[in-house]
Amino acid sequence: MTNYICFSVALGGLLFGFDTAVISGAVDLVKTQFSLNTVSEGWLVSSGLAGCILGVLATGALSDRIGRRKTILLAACAFLLSGIGCAFAGGINWLITARLVGGVGVGMASVVSPMLIAEFAPADKRGRMIAYYQLAITIGILLAYFSDALFLTLAQDGIILPAYFRNEVWRPMFLAMAFPSVLFILLLLKVPESPRWLIAINEKEKALDILRRIRSASVAAKEFSDMVEAAARNTGRRMSLFGGAFRIPLLIGILLAVFQQFSGINAIIYYGPSIFKAAGIGGSNALIFQVIIGTINVLFTIVAIKWSDKYGRKFLLTTGLCGIIFSLVFCGILFYTGHTQGVLLLVLLLLYIACFAFSLGPVTWIIINEIFPTPVRVQGVSVCTMALWMAVWVVGQFFPWLLEKAGAAVTFWIFAGFSLANFFFSWKIVKETKGKTLEEMEGVFISPH
Ligand code: BGC
Repeated sequence: MTNYICFSVALGGLLFGFDTAVISGAVDLVKTQFSLNTVSEGWLVSSGLAGCILGVLATGALSDRIGRRKTILLAACAFLLSGIGCAFAGGINWLITARLVGGVGVGMASVVSPMLIAEFAPADKRGRMIAYYQLAITIGILLAYFSDALFLTLAQDGIILPAYFRNEVWRPMFLAMAFPSVLFILLLLKVPESPRWLIAINEKEKALDILRRIRSASVAAKEFSDMVEAAARNTGRRMSLFGGAFRIPLLIGILLAVFQQFSGINAIIYYGPSIFKAAGIGGSNALIFQVIIGTINVLFTIVAIKWSDKYGRKFLLTTGLCGIIFSLVFCGILFYTGHTQGVLLLVLLLLYIACFAFSLGPVTWIIINEIFPTPVRVQGVSVCTMALWMAVWVVGQFFPWLLEKAGAAVTFWIFAGFSLANFFFSWKIVKETKGKTLEEMEGVFISPH
């Protein structure tokens, strides 16, 4: 049952990845069709991100009130609505609004999916189970590339697709998201509510009942009594996230989130193909590069699935960061010295992606979702996830500008500099969380007040 829950909830990650990547194949088509000026194009691309911010805010407000289960169902509905809304958009404003709704789904799912997995997972498998969520994100990104390419081919061949979709092929690209969304909704219907949340709202019987369904009798009884004890300990304590007691988990969560993005991951995923092309590697087909990057990203996430509970989060973070820093510094040197015309650049960028995929990608999400105690978990996770989305925005906004003004070498070195800071932070400040229950974590992170 725990595997079923983890699999179903992780689909939120797949839709997150799909939604954020699908736009890369559709944007030029939409631009041409609606003769968009730069302002409208900016809106089309950034509406998803604006929706994310709204989605994170909504989850912070909703999830403690209506529960994790209903919140994630709302996220799934937002994905479905967005897929259908974009596909049948009557004009550009409609399309932008539908993208915004999809963004709300991404924002909500990015808070509630990994958090729900963390709350359901047994302590010794929590790392691997949250890493499945990251795996789903990477698969979602890859699927979006494939499905964009598939619809382009189908439209060119002139078969199967009805004329409405054939002539405006961005429509089925967005509609494709509706299918996993329906699957997500159907699977979620059987996912129970989080026992930790039920105990927090004093529905102990229901919580015990669910624990008995997902664990053996003895483990269920032990986990139940730990959760009740932790809840009792926290009752009456002043539980304000910004009250000072939570400054360590907040610092760790926010900085890891921002550092994840300031490693330049999305710049490399989305600009990587043009970097390869500019460097004269291979043919002119951007899809091939997207697929190479995407596949490495998927495959190396499996390392984190295997190792995060075995060797620990800190080990993955610090070793991954060594590889990331190495490849960024050397990419910078290649650009600085003008030696970009070779296979070395490709190898270095793939090394970067591989290292990100087994470290910063999954481990950031794992840690953010396990360091806050239940009464402030949603708020804590929302604040850190919000920091992550804002950092996505900052990189998206400034990367092209940096590239133009300072050049590729300096841009790579700036990403390397942030990753070096992350290395020392992860090594010296981040605490190991492997194997501890969420309740035990309180003793590690929370300053007594
Ligand atoms: C990050 C995303 C990124 C993805 C790539 C996630 O952990 O939060 O910004 O696009 O990994 O795999």
